[in-house]
Amino acid sequence: LLAQATDLQLHGQSVLVTAGGTRERLDPVRYLTNDSSGKMGYALATAARDLGAQVTLISAPTMLTVPAGVAYVGVDSAEAMRTALLARYQTAQMVIMAAAVADFRPVTVADNKIKKTTADYTLTLTKNPDILAELGQQKHQQFLIGFAAETQHLLTYAQKKLASKRVDMIVANDVASAHAGFNHDTNEVTILQPNVEPQTLPLASKQVIAQQILQIALATRRNQQQ
Ligand code: CTP
Ligand code: CA
Repeated sequence: LLAQATDLQLHGQSVLVTAGGTRERLDPVRYLTNDSSGKMGYALATAARDLGAQVTLISAPTMLTVPAGVAYVGVDSAEAMRTALLARYQTAQMVIMAAAVADFRPVTVADNKIKKTTADYTLTLTKNPDILAELGQQKHQQFLIGFAAETQHLLTYAQKKLASKRVDMIVANDVASAHAGFNHDTNEVTILQPNVEPQTLPLASKQVIAQQILQIALATRRNQQQ
C-alpha cells in the first residue's frame, strides 16, 4: 500500500490532455484535417491516469478507444477544443496539448453541400486561435506541456515555440520520420525545457514515451516548487 501511494504522483490532480487532429468544417459533408491519429495523446491520458490523476481527455475524433477511468470530452474544431479547455483550465494542475490543432479554418461554413462549378474553386482560410499560447498567457499553477510537430529544423523551431508560447515543456517530434510521429505506434522525441539541456528519449512505444514525459515533468515541477 505504501509503495502504491508513493507511485501515485498525480493523485487527485486534474490533468487535461488534448488529442487528435481537429476538423475544420467546410460544408455539411466536408472538412479539413491532418494526419494525427491521437495515439500520443491517448497514451499520455492513460499514463496520467495510472499515476492517480483525474484525467479529462479533450479529443478530436479518432479511431481509438477511450481509456477506462478517463473523462472524455469529444470536440471537432479548434474553436470547440479551445472552449472545452478554457472551461476547465483554472482548476487544472497540468495541461498536455498533444492535439494537432488546425492552424486555419474556412472563413465560412456553407449551410448546404457546395456544388461543383465549371471553374476552379478557391478556398479562403482564416487563422485559428493559438490555444497553447493563450493558455501560456493565462498560466499560474498549471504545468503546461506542448508539442512541436516539425518536418525540418526540429530543435530550432521547437525552441522558438517553448519561448513564444510560455510553456514549461515542449515535446519536439519529427513527424516526417519513418518510425515516429503521426500515426505510428512508436515515437522518438526531444524534451525541451527553459534553462535545461535538450533531452532525447530514444525510440520506444508511445506508452513508454508518455510515461517518460510525465516523469520528467514531475521531476521539473518538484524542482520548481522547491
Ligand atoms: N497549438 C494550439 N493551437 C493552435 C496550433 C497549435 O494550441 N492553433 C498547439 C499544439 O497542440 C502543439 C503546439 O501548439 O502543442 C505546437 O503546434 P505546432 O503545429 O507544432 O506549432 P504552431 O505553433 O502551430 O506553428 P507551425 O505549425 O507553424 O509550426
Ligand atoms: Ca501548427
